[in-house]
Amino acid sequence: MKNMLSEQEATMPTVAQESPCTHVITVTSGKGGVGKTNVVVNLAVGLAQAGKRVLVLDADLGLGNIDVLLGLVPRYTLEQVLCGSHHLSDIVLQGPAGIQVLPAGSGLPHLTSLTDTQQLLLQSELEHVAGTVDVLLIDTGAGVSPNVTYFASAAQETIVVISPEPTSLTDAYALIKVLSRQHRERRFNVLVNMVKNQREAAQTFRKLDAAAERFLNIHLEYLGFIPLDDYLPMAVMEQRAVTERFPCSPAARAFVQVAKKIAEWPDPQLPKSTVQFLWQQLIPMS
Ligand SMILES: Nc1ncnc2c1ncn2[C@@H]1O[C@H](COP(=O)(O)OP(=O)(O)OP(=O)(O)O)[C@@H](O)[C@H]1O
Ligand SMILES: [Mg+2]
Repeated sequence: MKNMLSEQEATMPTVAQESPCTHVITVTSGKGGVGKTNVVVNLAVGLAQAGKRVLVLDADLGLGNIDVLLGLVPRYTLEQVLCGSHHLSDIVLQGPAGIQVLPAGSGLPHLTSLTDTQQLLLQSELEHVAGTVDVLLIDTGAGVSPNVTYFASAAQETIVVISPEPTSLTDAYALIKVLSRQHRERRFNVLVNMVKNQREAAQTFRKLDAAAERFLNIHLEYLGFIPLDDYLPMAVMEQRAVTERFPCSPAARAFVQVAKKIAEWPDPQLPKSTVQFLWQQLIPMS
């Protein structure tokens, strides 16, 4: 059993362990397979290299694969946490560059909707661990399932990953529409993946931004782009993050640039506890 805290940290006073404001960032997409999980893993490594303490939550429940992508072998997963038999501190794994990973597991049928009890359990468990890190990065499944909208609503920032394919754009638009109309989200950071060059990234972003401005009255933030890069699937085959395995590759360099940008985001002006924040966000407004 690996614990969240090293022995040295565990002996420190509680106040010293806590991050004043944990940045909660959810990474999502309309269409599947556009690169969310690779984005999460590599941004996590990039943020850790920029000096941030990073915790990754695999929230693609039932179909999680961050552990596989990083060659980690979980003994327990969120499935055990959600059924109440284990704590998050029992399931945490140590990843590359000091990142910590909460694996989702893939043994159960795809959990697209957490029950109210499971949501409360997860929030209370997160309160114990998330306050000790600077960034909580959440990987979700694709689409507009209740879990995706739940984790996107709970985060301070949402990163929507898109690729140049038209289907990726229409699905991203549908996701943004649901999050803005039904969940009152207004801030979306768009990361364009698998592009030939900066020009294609800018064109792809502009198409989505124009539709969001025109029909939803939402201005999207352009976070950057990751090039289509053969080194990335090579790293995947070796179950390593491309930022760690091939740090000089075009994709790795791009991830590091985007991570630096995120590391410079201003601290959220929010309550100390991440979970207080999650909770406040999720209380229905009258
Ligand atoms: N920049 C890139 N260059 C080349 N290949 C990429 C790039 N980004 C992702 N891929 C490839 O795309 C595939 C899907 O990536 P990934 O699993 O991260 O997507 P996902 O959005 O998390 O998928 P899902 O919706 O199933 O969770 C992987 O095989 C990966 O190797
Ligand atoms: Mg994924």
